[in-house]
This record gives sequence, C-alpha cells and structure tokens, in this order.
Amino acid sequence: MPDEQSNGVGAAGGAEFAGRRVALGVSGGIAAYKAVEVLRGLQRAGCEVRVGMTKRACEFVTPLTFRALSGSHVVVDDYAPENPDPIAHITFSQSVELFVVAPATANVIAKFANGVADDFLTSTYLASNAPVVVAPAMNTTMLLHPATQRNLALLRADGVRVVEPDAGEMACGTIGPGRLSDPGLIVAAALEVLRAGGRGRGPVQDLAGERVLVTTGATREEIDPVRFISNHSSGRMGFAVAEAARSRGAEVLVVAGSTTAPPPAGVRVVRAVSAGEMRDAVMREVGGATVFVAAAAVADYRPAARAGGKIKKSDAALSLTLEPTPDILAEVSAARRDGLLVVGFAAETERVVENALEKMRRKNLDAIVANDLTQDGAGFDTETNVVTVITRDRQTPAALPLMSKLDAAHRVLDEVARLRRLSKTV
Ligand code: PMT
Repeated sequence: MPDEQSNGVGAAGGAEFAGRRVALGVSGGIAAYKAVEVLRGLQRAGCEVRVGMTKRACEFVTPLTFRALSGSHVVVDDYAPENPDPIAHITFSQSVELFVVAPATANVIAKFANGVADDFLTSTYLASNAPVVVAPAMNTTMLLHPATQRNLALLRADGVRVVEPDAGEMACGTIGPGRLSDPGLIVAAALEVLRAGGRGRGPVQDLAGERVLVTTGATREEIDPVRFISNHSSGRMGFAVAEAARSRGAEVLVVAGSTTAPPPAGVRVVRAVSAGEMRDAVMREVGGATVFVAAAAVADYRPAARAGGKIKKSDAALSLTLEPTPDILAEVSAARRDGLLVVGFAAETERVVENALEKMRRKNLDAIVANDLTQDGAGFDTETNVVTVITRDRQTPAALPLMSKLDAAHRVLDEVARLRRLSKTV
C-alpha cells in the first residue's frame, strides 16, 4: 500500500473525515484480500467503516478478519440467525454516507446495473441513497466483454464512480486490464467523493461552477471547392470530455470541426470547418471559460492558396504549397488569464511520453493527454483509448490501460478537478 501522503490522505485526513460512515462491500474474487487495505486506508483517514460481504467473498477472506479490523459485525446474510439486525440491508444502507465496493466482480456489477437484489450486498446497493464507488476486478476477457462494459456504462450513467482496474499479470496468468486498482487509489477516490459532499446518488459535482471549452473533431483545409486536407478524428474523445464535464456539474461549450460521432446532450456546440475558423471561434469564447481542453485534431498545415475552381486532373504531377495553421492551443495558453486551466492532447506514434512532455512545456500547459497511436483501440475513430495523463505538478505520468473514451475523459477531469483544488490552496 502506498504511503498516506501519496494517496491524498495526509495527516489532515483524519480530522477531515473523522466519523464519516462508510460501508465497504466485498465480493468474491482473488483480490478480496486487498479489501483489507482499503478498510485500513479508510480507517486511517478517520472513517467509521462497516463491512458487508457476498457468500463467495467469504471463501477468499473470512468475515472474522473484517470483524476484527472494523470492530463491527460483518453482514453476509441478513436472514442468518446470528445477524443482530434482520433488516440490515435497509438499516445499514440508510445509515452510511458512502458505499464502496472493492473488489466488484462482473457478477456484482451486472446485478447492480440491472437492479437485481438477491443477497445482502446487492440489496444494500438498491436500498441506499449514498454515493457509490466500485472498483472492478476480474479476468481481462470478462472485463472487456461487451456485457460487462455495458453494465459498467449503466453504472456510470447512474452516477456510480468506477475506479478503473489496472493492467498487468492476472492471477489466471493472462496479461491485460482487470487487476484491482491500487487500494490507495480506491481510498483516494472514496475520500474525494466524500469530500465533494455527494449525498444521494448522482455524479460527483466537482466541476460545478466551471465553464469548460472543448475543441474536438478534425479540421478541413480546402484545396479547391471539392477537395480538402483532413484526418480521421471522429470527435468522440472531445465529446466524451464534454459529456463527462457536464455530468460533473460544468457548463460546457464544444467547438467542433468535422465529426462522425454524435454530440452529447446538454452541451452547446459551435461548428468550425477549418483551423482558422476553429481558432476564431475559440478566441471568441475562451474569455468566458475557466477550463480549456484541446482534443481536436487540428491540421498543422493548409494550402497557402485555395483554388477558386476545381483543379483539373492531368498527367502532370501536382504540387501544393502548404503553410502552417494557427496553433490554437499555444495561442490560448499564451494569452491566458489567471485561473484558466489549459489541457492539451498529443497523438503520438513514438516516444509518446517524451514528445507529449515536450509539447506540454513548449505550449505551457497545465496537463497533456498522450494517446499512443500504436496501441490497439487507441486514438482516432475508436470507442476506446489508451492514454497517459501528464500534469505540470506531477513528474510521474499516469499511464492508463485500455478504457472507454468516457472513462478516459473522467480520468482527465479528475486531474483538472485536482489542479483546481490545488490552485485554490496556494
Ligand atoms: O476524435 P477521435 O476519433 O475520438 O480521436 C481522438 C484524438 C486522437 C483526435 C484525440 O484524442 C487527440 O489526440 N487529439 C489531438 C490530436 C493532435 O492533433 O495532436 P497534436 O500532437 O498534433 O497536437 C497537440 C495539441 O495541440 C492538441 O491538443 C491539438 O488540439 C492542439 N493543436 C494542434 C495544432 C493546431 N494548429 N492547433 C492546436 O490547437
């Protein structure tokens, strides 16, 4: 387990979270033993933790372990004769301020997503109004199965905070995403939800009051009235950032180039075709923004002159003179006012982190999100992404496993919210 400073639970944590009532649900997977570290981390932060387990979880760790550490009866079956409270799923669920489930198996996630309440843990989920944090852990194939991804998407849409599993070697010997996230990160996510004061189900509103301006999609640089230079950006990544920011309470405006993905509901979209138009729209709107996220794939070059009529085909080679387009991100950063957080993206095929770091420094950004285009499921025109999030204050970049673009967007916004909190404390 990382030390307490590194997971955001510093010495002050004990006072800040003293007496906060947290339920820890443990379901049956090989990672169940790591729930002990989650319990200890929450307790060190000052929380009062009660534990509920599935019957399968008891095959990996005994309830006695959690009882000894939590000092309370551990509920597995509310109807068991030794249970002091025969309707524990109601009393327990309604007396806690946060429900953390770690590890959450594919089965438990499926039941939560579909409202199945056939044991203590799943009944507690359904009977509770508290915000919920789930930390999935399972075999990679099970995690990436469309059914599990669909169920996780349903949970997110219901306002559940999902702490993404890590990638690595699994107990079954395969290598890929599915390993329970670091217990320190699960504790940090839980405390973040508590800190945000979320009572009642619904996404954490940690970006309430922020006005987020996002660029997305591809620009088109016209050669003549029928031809243009462009790229494969679908707009999905930027729209995911917009959707995630809106669900966390921000007011969102998207300046979108050419896109094939649909924009999310509840955000304002302004269209721009070329890099020049996108630049003008951004510079018009950025004065009202508190966060700027540049996810667009802006053409770096455009024809120096656009032909007025269609260029006729001939057997001769055709040369085009290209000139650089305005660098929108660099211009926003150079002209920024106090308080504007500026986040760039970098699409890279080699030396991914080094190149992204260089862009972050050169353009003076608060954070940059590096897409590794060599990875399957990453980058342009995919539903998923593989990103590394680098922030100016943290020298160790967070390399994330394959995940949906919406999840990746939330991970980027976790950093935005953290940077905002930091800026308020200095
Ligand atoms: O739209 P999708 O299909 O979902 O694909 C997502 C994506 C791969 C396009 C996205 O995740 C991404 O990486 N966007 C940035 C791609 C890119 O153009 O990277 P870059 O390294 O060339 O540019 C660096 C940064 O400067 C980017 O934030 C870019 O928006 C910005 N830029 C670049 C050139 C320019 N003239 N103006 C800019 O603002």
